[in-house]
Amino acid sequence: MRAVTAFARLSPPPRLVDWSILALVVAEVASGLLSFTVGTPDGWYVLWFHRVAGITLAFLLCLKLYRVRNRIRYGEHWERSTALSILTAVVAIATLATGIAWALGAVSVESRVLYWTVLSVHVGLGLALVPLVLAHVSTRFSVPRRSDFADRREAIRYAGLFAAGALVVRGQETAAETFDTSGSKRRFTGSKPVRGEGNGSFPITSWVADDPDPIDPEAWTLSVTGLVERPVELGYGEIDTESEERALLDCTSGWYTVQEWQGVRVGDLLDSVGVSGEAEWVRFVSVTGYRWSLPVEEARDALLATHVGGERLAHGHGAPLRLVAPGRRGFQWVKWVERVEIREENDPAQWLVTLISGFD
Ligand code: HEM
Repeated sequence: MRAVTAFARLSPPPRLVDWSILALVVAEVASGLLSFTVGTPDGWYVLWFHRVAGITLAFLLCLKLYRVRNRIRYGEHWERSTALSILTAVVAIATLATGIAWALGAVSVESRVLYWTVLSVHVGLGLALVPLVLAHVSTRFSVPRRSDFADRREAIRYAGLFAAGALVVRGQETAAETFDTSGSKRRFTGSKPVRGEGNGSFPITSWVADDPDPIDPEAWTLSVTGLVERPVELGYGEIDTESEERALLDCTSGWYTVQEWQGVRVGDLLDSVGVSGEAEWVRFVSVTGYRWSLPVEEARDALLATHVGGERLAHGHGAPLRLVAPGRRGFQWVKWVERVEIREENDPAQWLVTLISGFD
Protein backbone atom coordinates (compact mmCIF):
# COMPACT_ATOMS: atom_id res chain seq x y z
CA MET A 1 0.00 0.00 0.00
CA ARG A 2 2.88 2.34 0.84
CA ALA A 3 4.37 1.69 -2.62
CA VAL A 4 1.02 2.62 -4.22
CA THR A 5 0.85 5.87 -2.24
CA ALA A 6 4.47 6.72 -3.13
CA PHE A 7 3.72 6.02 -6.81
CA ALA A 8 0.61 8.23 -6.62
CA ARG A 9 2.67 11.01 -5.05
CA LEU A 10 4.79 11.07 -8.21
CA SER A 11 1.67 11.88 -10.17
CA PRO A 12 1.60 15.09 -12.23
CA PRO A 13 -1.44 17.38 -11.64
CA PRO A 14 -4.77 15.71 -12.54
CA ARG A 15 -5.52 17.96 -15.53
CA LEU A 16 -2.13 17.23 -16.97
CA VAL A 17 -2.57 13.48 -16.48
CA ASP A 18 -5.91 13.60 -18.32
CA TRP A 19 -4.56 15.53 -21.27
CA SER A 20 -1.45 13.36 -21.41
CA ILE A 21 -3.65 10.27 -21.59
CA LEU A 22 -5.51 11.80 -24.53
CA ALA A 23 -2.25 12.73 -26.27
CA LEU A 24 -0.81 9.25 -25.71
CA VAL A 25 -3.94 7.50 -27.02
CA VAL A 26 -3.72 9.61 -30.19
CA ALA A 27 0.03 8.86 -30.44
CA GLU A 28 -0.65 5.14 -29.93
CA VAL A 29 -3.29 4.95 -32.64
CA ALA A 30 -1.05 6.95 -35.02
CA SER A 31 2.10 4.92 -34.32
CA GLY A 32 0.14 1.63 -34.37
CA LEU A 33 -1.37 2.38 -37.78
CA LEU A 34 1.93 3.76 -39.07
CA SER A 35 3.61 0.50 -38.04
CA PHE A 36 1.43 -1.26 -40.61
CA THR A 37 3.35 0.51 -43.37
CA VAL A 38 6.74 -0.57 -42.01
CA GLY A 39 8.12 -3.79 -43.47
CA THR A 40 11.89 -3.42 -43.23
CA PRO A 41 13.99 -3.26 -40.03
CA ASP A 42 15.05 0.37 -40.61
CA GLY A 43 11.55 1.35 -39.41
CA TRP A 44 11.96 -0.44 -36.04
CA TYR A 45 11.59 2.81 -34.06
CA VAL A 46 7.87 3.17 -34.93
CA LEU A 47 6.94 0.02 -33.01
CA TRP A 48 9.51 0.81 -30.31
CA PHE A 49 7.85 4.17 -29.70
CA HIS A 50 4.42 2.46 -29.71
CA ARG A 51 5.52 0.00 -27.05
CA VAL A 52 7.21 2.56 -24.78
CA ALA A 53 4.34 5.05 -25.10
CA GLY A 54 1.90 2.17 -24.40
CA ILE A 55 3.65 1.30 -21.12
CA THR A 56 3.85 5.00 -20.16
CA LEU A 57 0.13 5.24 -20.85
CA ALA A 58 -0.44 2.23 -18.58
CA PHE A 59 1.39 4.07 -15.74
CA LEU A 60 -0.71 7.20 -16.27
CA LEU A 61 -3.90 5.18 -16.41
CA CYS A 62 -3.01 3.56 -13.06
CA LEU A 63 -2.48 7.05 -11.58
CA LYS A 64 -5.80 8.23 -12.94
CA LEU A 65 -7.72 5.16 -11.73
CA TYR A 66 -6.10 5.57 -8.29
CA ARG A 67 -7.27 9.18 -8.22
CA VAL A 68 -10.89 8.37 -9.09
CA ARG A 69 -11.03 5.08 -7.13
CA ASN A 70 -13.47 6.32 -4.49
CA ARG A 71 -15.80 7.79 -7.07
CA ILE A 72 -16.03 4.39 -8.73
CA ARG A 73 -16.01 2.26 -5.56
CA TYR A 74 -18.55 4.18 -3.51
CA GLY A 75 -20.50 5.63 -6.40
CA GLU A 76 -19.58 9.19 -5.30
CA HIS A 77 -20.67 11.95 -7.71
CA TRP A 78 -22.24 9.52 -10.18
CA GLU A 79 -23.45 11.35 -13.25
CA ARG A 80 -24.90 10.25 -16.57
CA SER A 81 -21.46 10.48 -18.12
CA THR A 82 -19.96 8.13 -15.50
CA ALA A 83 -21.07 5.05 -17.46
CA LEU A 84 -19.21 6.38 -20.52
CA SER A 85 -16.13 7.03 -18.39
CA ILE A 86 -16.20 3.45 -17.07
CA LEU A 87 -16.66 2.01 -20.58
CA THR A 88 -13.72 4.11 -21.79
CA ALA A 89 -11.57 2.83 -18.91
CA VAL A 90 -12.55 -0.80 -19.62
CA VAL A 91 -11.73 -0.51 -23.35
CA ALA A 92 -8.44 1.26 -22.55
CA ILE A 93 -7.46 -1.49 -20.10
CA ALA A 94 -8.47 -4.20 -22.60
CA THR A 95 -6.40 -2.48 -25.33
CA LEU A 96 -3.35 -2.32 -23.05
CA ALA A 97 -3.88 -5.89 -21.80
CA THR A 98 -4.16 -7.40 -25.31
CA GLY A 99 -1.08 -5.43 -26.50
CA ILE A 100 0.99 -6.50 -23.51
CA ALA A 101 -0.21 -10.14 -23.67
CA TRP A 102 0.84 -10.22 -27.33
CA ALA A 103 4.24 -8.65 -26.68
CA LEU A 104 4.93 -10.93 -23.69
CA GLY A 105 4.18 -14.05 -25.72
CA ALA A 106 1.28 -14.93 -23.37
CA VAL A 107 -0.84 -15.57 -26.49
CA SER A 108 0.16 -17.18 -29.77
CA VAL A 109 -0.96 -16.72 -33.38
CA GLU A 110 -3.25 -19.73 -32.84
CA SER A 111 -5.04 -18.10 -29.87
CA ARG A 112 -8.13 -16.70 -31.57
CA VAL A 113 -11.10 -14.62 -30.46
CA LEU A 114 -13.68 -16.01 -32.91
CA TYR A 115 -11.74 -15.58 -36.18
CA TRP A 116 -9.32 -12.86 -35.03
CA THR A 117 -5.82 -13.04 -33.56
CA VAL A 118 -5.34 -11.27 -30.22
CA LEU A 119 -3.29 -8.62 -32.07
CA SER A 120 -6.23 -7.89 -34.40
CA VAL A 121 -8.50 -7.62 -31.34
CA HIS A 122 -5.95 -5.19 -29.87
CA VAL A 123 -6.10 -3.05 -33.01
CA GLY A 124 -9.93 -3.11 -33.04
CA LEU A 125 -10.07 -2.06 -29.38
CA GLY A 126 -7.47 0.67 -30.04
CA LEU A 127 -9.61 2.10 -32.85
CA ALA A 128 -12.77 1.91 -30.69
CA LEU A 129 -10.91 3.86 -28.03
CA VAL A 130 -10.66 6.98 -30.23
CA PRO A 131 -14.39 7.95 -30.25
CA LEU A 132 -14.75 6.84 -26.63
CA VAL A 133 -11.86 9.01 -25.43
CA LEU A 134 -13.11 11.98 -27.49
CA ALA A 135 -16.63 11.60 -26.05
CA HIS A 136 -15.17 11.23 -22.55
CA VAL A 137 -13.05 14.37 -22.98
CA SER A 138 -16.05 16.33 -24.27
CA THR A 139 -18.10 15.51 -21.15
CA ARG A 140 -15.29 16.40 -18.76
CA PHE A 141 -13.58 19.18 -20.65
CA SER A 142 -11.15 21.19 -18.59
CA VAL A 143 -8.57 23.27 -20.44
CA PRO A 144 -5.01 22.77 -19.21
CA ARG A 145 -3.46 25.89 -17.71
CA ARG A 146 -0.18 27.33 -18.81
CA SER A 147 1.17 26.74 -15.28
CA ASP A 148 0.59 22.99 -15.80
CA PHE A 149 3.32 22.99 -18.41
CA ALA A 150 5.61 25.65 -17.02
CA ASP A 151 6.89 23.59 -14.12
CA ARG A 152 10.28 21.98 -14.76
CA ARG A 153 9.48 19.33 -12.19
CA GLU A 154 6.60 18.11 -14.38
CA ALA A 155 8.90 17.81 -17.37
CA ILE A 156 11.31 15.75 -15.26
CA ARG A 157 8.47 13.55 -13.97
CA TYR A 158 7.31 12.90 -17.53
CA ALA A 159 10.82 12.12 -18.72
CA GLY A 160 11.06 9.72 -15.75
CA LEU A 161 7.79 8.00 -16.67
CA PHE A 162 8.86 7.60 -20.31
CA ALA A 163 12.29 6.31 -19.24
CA ALA A 164 10.59 3.82 -16.91
CA GLY A 165 8.43 2.71 -19.88
CA ALA A 166 11.58 2.25 -22.00
CA LEU A 167 13.21 0.23 -19.18
CA VAL A 168 10.17 -2.06 -18.90
CA VAL A 169 10.20 -2.66 -22.67
CA ARG A 170 13.97 -3.32 -22.69
CA GLY A 171 13.63 -5.60 -19.66
CA GLN A 172 10.89 -7.58 -21.37
CA GLU A 173 12.98 -7.94 -24.56
CA THR A 174 16.00 -9.14 -22.58
CA ALA A 175 13.89 -11.61 -20.58
CA ALA A 176 12.28 -12.92 -23.79
CA GLU A 177 15.71 -13.41 -25.42
CA THR A 178 17.17 -15.05 -22.27
CA PHE A 179 14.30 -17.45 -21.61
CA ASP A 180 13.50 -17.95 -25.28
CA THR A 181 9.77 -17.34 -24.88
CA SER A 182 7.59 -17.13 -27.99
CA GLY A 183 7.79 -13.35 -27.64
CA SER A 184 11.50 -13.42 -28.57
CA LYS A 185 10.76 -14.81 -32.06
CA ARG A 186 8.68 -11.76 -32.93
CA ARG A 187 9.81 -9.55 -35.77
CA PHE A 188 10.29 -5.86 -35.01
CA THR A 189 6.72 -5.47 -36.34
CA GLY A 190 5.39 -7.67 -33.49
CA SER A 191 4.56 -10.53 -35.90
CA LYS A 192 5.23 -14.13 -34.82
CA PRO A 193 6.43 -17.01 -37.01
CA VAL A 194 4.28 -19.69 -38.58
CA ARG A 195 6.38 -22.51 -39.98
CA GLY A 196 6.09 -24.91 -42.92
CA GLU A 197 6.05 -24.81 -46.70
CA GLY A 198 3.19 -24.36 -49.15
CA ASN A 199 -0.46 -23.30 -49.14
CA GLY A 200 -1.54 -25.16 -46.01
CA SER A 201 1.24 -23.86 -43.77
CA PHE A 202 0.10 -20.25 -43.33
CA PRO A 203 -3.29 -18.64 -42.63
CA ILE A 204 -5.59 -17.25 -45.30
CA THR A 205 -6.40 -13.65 -44.43
CA SER A 206 -7.85 -10.61 -46.13
CA TRP A 207 -6.94 -7.06 -45.13
CA VAL A 208 -10.56 -6.01 -44.66
CA ALA A 209 -13.31 -7.69 -46.69
CA ASP A 210 -12.00 -8.93 -50.06
CA ASP A 211 -13.44 -12.39 -50.74
CA PRO A 212 -13.99 -13.12 -54.46
CA ASP A 213 -15.28 -16.40 -55.89
CA PRO A 214 -12.58 -18.84 -57.04
CA ILE A 215 -11.15 -17.82 -60.43
CA ASP A 216 -10.99 -20.22 -63.38
CA PRO A 217 -7.44 -19.78 -64.76
CA GLU A 218 -8.65 -20.73 -68.24
CA ALA A 219 -11.11 -17.78 -68.27
CA TRP A 220 -8.67 -15.36 -66.61
CA THR A 221 -6.13 -13.05 -68.28
CA LEU A 222 -3.43 -10.66 -67.09
CA SER A 223 -3.25 -7.33 -68.89
CA VAL A 224 -0.18 -5.09 -68.83
CA THR A 225 -1.11 -1.57 -69.90
CA GLY A 226 -0.36 2.15 -69.39
CA LEU A 227 2.96 3.79 -70.25
CA VAL A 228 4.23 0.88 -72.32
CA GLU A 229 5.15 0.43 -75.98
CA ARG A 230 3.33 -2.90 -76.47
CA PRO A 231 0.35 -3.50 -74.13
CA VAL A 232 -0.36 -7.23 -73.75
CA GLU A 233 -3.02 -9.56 -72.43
CA LEU A 234 -1.66 -12.91 -71.29
CA GLY A 235 -3.50 -16.16 -70.59
CA TYR A 236 -2.53 -18.32 -67.61
CA GLY A 237 -0.50 -20.67 -69.84
CA GLU A 238 1.50 -17.72 -71.19
CA ILE A 239 2.74 -16.62 -67.76
CA ASP A 240 6.39 -17.48 -67.35
CA THR A 241 6.89 -19.35 -64.05
CA GLU A 242 10.69 -19.60 -64.19
CA SER A 243 11.60 -17.08 -61.47
CA GLU A 244 11.87 -18.11 -57.82
CA GLU A 245 12.31 -16.14 -54.66
CA ARG A 246 12.42 -17.00 -50.97
CA ALA A 247 10.50 -14.11 -49.40
CA LEU A 248 8.99 -13.22 -46.05
CA LEU A 249 5.28 -12.42 -45.88
CA ASP A 250 4.46 -10.34 -42.75
CA CYS A 251 0.73 -10.05 -42.08
CA THR A 252 -0.68 -7.18 -40.01
CA SER A 253 -2.78 -9.69 -38.06
CA GLY A 254 0.47 -10.68 -36.36
CA TRP A 255 2.18 -13.58 -38.13
CA TYR A 256 4.93 -14.04 -40.69
CA THR A 257 6.05 -16.88 -42.92
CA VAL A 258 9.06 -17.47 -45.15
CA GLN A 259 8.10 -19.27 -48.37
CA GLU A 260 9.58 -20.21 -51.73
CA TRP A 261 7.52 -18.27 -54.30
CA GLN A 262 7.57 -19.01 -58.01
CA GLY A 263 6.26 -17.00 -60.95
CA VAL A 264 7.23 -14.17 -63.24
CA ARG A 265 9.63 -11.39 -62.22
CA VAL A 266 7.86 -8.04 -62.70
CA GLY A 267 11.07 -6.60 -64.20
CA ASP A 268 11.00 -9.27 -66.93
CA LEU A 269 7.33 -8.52 -67.60
CA LEU A 270 8.09 -4.79 -67.90
CA ASP A 271 11.03 -5.43 -70.24
CA SER A 272 8.81 -7.55 -72.47
CA VAL A 273 6.32 -4.68 -72.97
CA GLY A 274 8.86 -1.81 -73.14
CA VAL A 275 8.28 0.77 -70.39
CA SER A 276 8.26 4.45 -71.41
CA GLY A 277 10.65 6.98 -69.86
CA GLU A 278 7.92 8.81 -67.86
CA ALA A 279 6.89 5.70 -65.97
CA GLU A 280 7.27 6.12 -62.19
CA TRP A 281 4.80 3.67 -60.63
CA VAL A 282 3.47 0.19 -61.27
CA ARG A 283 -0.07 -0.45 -60.06
CA PHE A 284 -1.23 -4.00 -59.39
CA VAL A 285 -5.01 -4.41 -59.57
CA SER A 286 -7.02 -7.37 -58.27
CA VAL A 287 -10.19 -8.80 -59.85
CA THR A 288 -11.97 -7.22 -56.86
CA GLY A 289 -10.64 -3.72 -57.63
CA TYR A 290 -8.26 -3.85 -54.62
CA ARG A 291 -4.93 -2.36 -55.69
CA TRP A 292 -1.48 -1.25 -54.63
CA SER A 293 1.30 0.67 -56.42
CA LEU A 294 5.06 0.30 -56.12
CA PRO A 295 7.78 2.60 -57.49
CA VAL A 296 9.05 1.18 -60.80
CA GLU A 297 12.49 0.29 -59.46
CA GLU A 298 11.04 -1.59 -56.48
CA ALA A 299 8.38 -3.25 -58.64
CA ARG A 300 11.08 -4.64 -60.96
CA ASP A 301 12.36 -6.82 -58.10
CA ALA A 302 8.88 -8.02 -57.13
CA LEU A 303 7.38 -11.29 -58.34
CA LEU A 304 3.92 -12.18 -59.64
CA ALA A 305 3.59 -15.66 -58.16
CA THR A 306 1.64 -18.61 -59.49
CA HIS A 307 3.15 -21.11 -57.02
CA VAL A 308 4.14 -21.26 -53.36
CA GLY A 309 6.28 -23.98 -51.76
CA GLY A 310 6.23 -25.94 -55.04
CA GLU A 311 2.40 -26.01 -55.17
CA ARG A 312 0.02 -24.12 -57.41
CA LEU A 313 -1.23 -21.13 -55.41
CA ALA A 314 -4.53 -21.83 -53.58
CA HIS A 315 -7.53 -19.55 -54.18
CA GLY A 316 -7.35 -18.07 -50.66
CA HIS A 317 -3.72 -17.11 -51.20
CA GLY A 318 -4.55 -15.22 -54.42
CA ALA A 319 -4.64 -17.75 -57.31
CA PRO A 320 -4.06 -17.54 -60.16
CA LEU A 321 -1.56 -14.70 -59.53
CA ARG A 322 -0.46 -12.74 -56.44
CA LEU A 323 2.07 -10.03 -55.92
CA VAL A 324 5.12 -10.93 -53.83
CA ALA A 325 6.65 -7.64 -52.67
CA PRO A 326 9.52 -8.33 -50.24
CA GLY A 327 9.87 -5.64 -47.55
CA ARG A 328 6.17 -4.72 -47.78
CA ARG A 329 3.42 -5.80 -45.36
CA GLY A 330 0.98 -8.54 -46.39
CA PHE A 331 -1.91 -6.21 -47.32
CA GLN A 332 0.30 -4.72 -50.04
CA TRP A 333 0.88 -8.15 -51.64
CA VAL A 334 -2.19 -7.82 -53.90
CA LYS A 335 -4.01 -11.14 -54.47
CA TRP A 336 -5.96 -12.28 -57.55
CA VAL A 337 -4.05 -9.81 -59.80
CA GLU A 338 -5.58 -9.27 -63.25
CA ARG A 339 -4.04 -5.93 -64.30
CA VAL A 340 -0.60 -4.38 -64.16
CA GLU A 341 -0.71 -0.66 -65.02
CA ILE A 342 2.41 1.41 -65.62
CA ARG A 343 1.78 5.00 -64.56
CA GLU A 344 3.40 8.38 -64.00
CA GLU A 345 1.43 9.14 -60.83
CA ASN A 346 1.18 7.37 -57.49
CA ASP A 347 -2.32 6.42 -56.34
CA PRO A 348 -3.23 7.84 -52.87
CA ALA A 349 -6.83 6.59 -53.29
CA GLN A 350 -5.49 3.05 -52.95
CA TRP A 351 -5.67 3.48 -49.15
CA LEU A 352 -9.41 4.04 -49.29
CA VAL A 353 -9.86 1.20 -51.78
CA THR A 354 -8.08 -1.28 -49.47
CA LEU A 355 -10.56 -0.40 -46.70
CA ILE A 356 -13.78 -0.58 -48.72
CA SER A 357 -12.97 -3.24 -51.33
CA GLY A 358 -15.10 -6.33 -50.79
CA PHE A 359 -18.08 -4.49 -49.26
CA ASP A 360 -21.16 -4.51 -51.47
C1 HEM B 1 -5.32 1.33 -33.33
C2 HEM B 1 -4.19 1.05 -33.76
C3 HEM B 1 -3.15 0.19 -33.07
C4 HEM B 1 -2.32 -0.67 -33.71
C5 HEM B 1 -2.29 -0.92 -35.22
C6 HEM B 1 -1.46 -1.29 -32.73
C7 HEM B 1 -0.47 -2.23 -33.01
C8 HEM B 1 0.29 -2.88 -32.06
C9 HEM B 1 1.24 -3.92 -32.34
C10 HEM B 1 1.59 -4.45 -33.74
C11 HEM B 1 1.75 -4.33 -31.15
C12 HEM B 1 2.74 -5.46 -30.94
C13 HEM B 1 4.08 -4.91 -30.57
C14 HEM B 1 5.05 -5.99 -30.28
O1 HEM B 1 4.66 -7.16 -30.20
O2 HEM B 1 6.20 -5.65 -30.12
C15 HEM B 1 1.16 -3.52 -30.12
C16 HEM B 1 1.47 -3.61 -28.79
C17 HEM B 1 1.00 -2.76 -27.82
N1 HEM B 1 0.09 -1.76 -28.02
FE1 HEM B 1 -0.85 -1.28 -29.75
N2 HEM B 1 -1.79 -0.80 -31.50
C18 HEM B 1 -2.81 0.11 -31.65
C19 HEM B 1 -3.42 0.84 -30.65
C20 HEM B 1 -2.99 0.88 -29.35
C21 HEM B 1 -3.54 1.73 -28.35
C22 HEM B 1 -4.66 2.75 -28.56
C23 HEM B 1 -2.85 1.45 -27.20
C24 HEM B 1 -3.04 2.02 -25.86
C25 HEM B 1 -4.20 2.26 -25.31
C26 HEM B 1 -1.87 0.44 -27.48
C27 HEM B 1 -0.99 -0.11 -26.56
C28 HEM B 1 -0.13 -1.14 -26.80
C29 HEM B 1 0.70 -1.77 -25.79
C30 HEM B 1 0.79 -1.39 -24.32
C31 HEM B 1 1.42 -2.79 -26.43
C32 HEM B 1 2.40 -3.76 -25.80
C33 HEM B 1 3.71 -3.08 -25.55
C34 HEM B 1 4.69 -4.00 -24.85
O3 HEM B 1 4.34 -4.62 -23.85
O4 HEM B 1 5.81 -4.08 -25.31
N3 HEM B 1 -1.98 0.11 -28.81
N4 HEM B 1 0.26 -2.65 -30.69
